[in-house]
Amino acid sequence: MPFTIRTKLTFWYTSLLGFSLISAGIFLYIAAQQAMVTALDTKLLFLAETMARTVIKPHTQLILPQNFDVLMERFFGLKTSGSYIQITDRFGNVKSRSETLGKARLPLSGKAVQNALANKTTYETVDYVGRQPLRVITYPAMDNNTLDYIIQVAASMESVQSTLSDIVYIFYLTIPFVIILATAGGFVLASKALSPVHEITTAARRIGAENLHERIAVLGTGDEIDNLADTFNEMVGRLEISFKRMKQFTSDASHELRTPLTILKGETEVALKKCRSLEEMRGVLESNLEEINRMSRIVNNLLTLVKSDTDVKHEFQDVRLNEIIDEKFRQTKHIAEAKKVEMKLLKNEEVLVSGDPLRLRQLILNLLDNAVKFTHDHGNVIVSLERCNDNAVIKVSDTGIGIQEEDLPFIFDRFYRVDKGRSREDGGTGLGLSICKEIADAHGGRIEVDSVIGKGSTFKVYIPVKPA
Ligand SMILES: Nc1ncnc2c1ncn2[C@@H]1O[C@H](COP(=O)(O)OP(=O)(O)OP(=O)(O)O)[C@@H](O)[C@H]1O
Ligand SMILES: [Mg+2]
Repeated sequence: MPFTIRTKLTFWYTSLLGFSLISAGIFLYIAAQQAMVTALDTKLLFLAETMARTVIKPHTQLILPQNFDVLMERFFGLKTSGSYIQITDRFGNVKSRSETLGKARLPLSGKAVQNALANKTTYETVDYVGRQPLRVITYPAMDNNTLDYIIQVAASMESVQSTLSDIVYIFYLTIPFVIILATAGGFVLASKALSPVHEITTAARRIGAENLHERIAVLGTGDEIDNLADTFNEMVGRLEISFKRMKQFTSDASHELRTPLTILKGETEVALKKCRSLEEMRGVLESNLEEINRMSRIVNNLLTLVKSDTDVKHEFQDVRLNEIIDEKFRQTKHIAEAKKVEMKLLKNEEVLVSGDPLRLRQLILNLLDNAVKFTHDHGNVIVSLERCNDNAVIKVSDTGIGIQEEDLPFIFDRFYRVDKGRSREDGGTGLGLSICKEIADAHGGRIEVDSVIGKGSTFKVYIPVKPA
């Protein structure tokens, strides 16, 4: 089962907290132990030093009464209670010991004797059989650099041990409690922090093709979650636009194909019912062929558009744009002449671009075709190609019917024709300019239009030149 982020967050949070608490506990334990042992050592050392200064006289036979510790307390104010004191000569023979020791003797290690010989104090913790461990310090009483006596002062570690076990006990009791509390708190916090994500998920699930206009609520906090919601909304926005375009395109395409099909169907039915002569039959077939041609033009244009939607750039090669302009200009000139429209090639600079020659031909042909088509008799069409900065600029101007300002934003849309009736007579599908735009876009360029109704139009195409 995959873990939720909430579970993972809680787990990491708890582990981290647990680790920190245990580390802090261990640190505290060690620090407390050291502090208590040091305090004990200071007390023992003080006793030993006082003993050395007051009791032991150099070169004298050490004779101490059995209850010397009691006397020390009385005469020197030394608190010896709870301590064990033992005085030995340098060979380890016990010379005297405190009453608290009774018959027992404090252990004297070889190391302690060696240290004492070198005038060093030794601090040891030794196990005292059957009782709490003892802290023993072994202090040398020196006489002119020679070891006179060895004073050992010891105390039980019982209080240290019991304080340490109290500390451990407190830890055992509090750490699990704190961890459980923190886990619950962490879980609640994580749930709270992640609840907007849950809302986004629910909203995202709700939004489908039918309600792409819906958006996720953005709280305006500017945090990561808001960012996520914003990004998601933007994505849905883009989907909505392309979905609308797709719908529009499908409905336009079917509408465009339906008209010729209806005509085909109607004419064929009538012909089948009451066709008399071969002549009439021929007339029907000719009209049908016209509609078929029209449909195949639409389908071809649609295919071109779909193609530019999907494959871009992989057929690019070096193209001399001026050669294409030359070729298409000559071809259109014949048609223009038949229409008594004069065509001029004002400028044709040599420009090299990287592109798909077939598509660029189509772009130029579509523009020239429009210019001639929408220009009256005795009108002019002026064509030019020049290099301007890093762009090849193709300009096609005509003195034709022009386009109204309110139509200008739509003429590059698929199937858009200003005058539907007229376009039908011309055989226009309304796809020419949208193909031009797709081609210009695919080449990293753009297309612009300037038009005054009744005066004429100028179309400009910018295609980036091939970098040197
Ligand atoms: N040079 C022009 N002068 C006036 N109007 C134009 C010109 N070029 C385009 N238009 C207007 O823009 C519309 C869209 O042009 P587009 O080339 O896309 O379609 P079309 O020429 O009608 O059909 P097709 O190009 O598919 O044969 C045209 O129907 C026309 O109304
Ligand atoms: Mg056209």
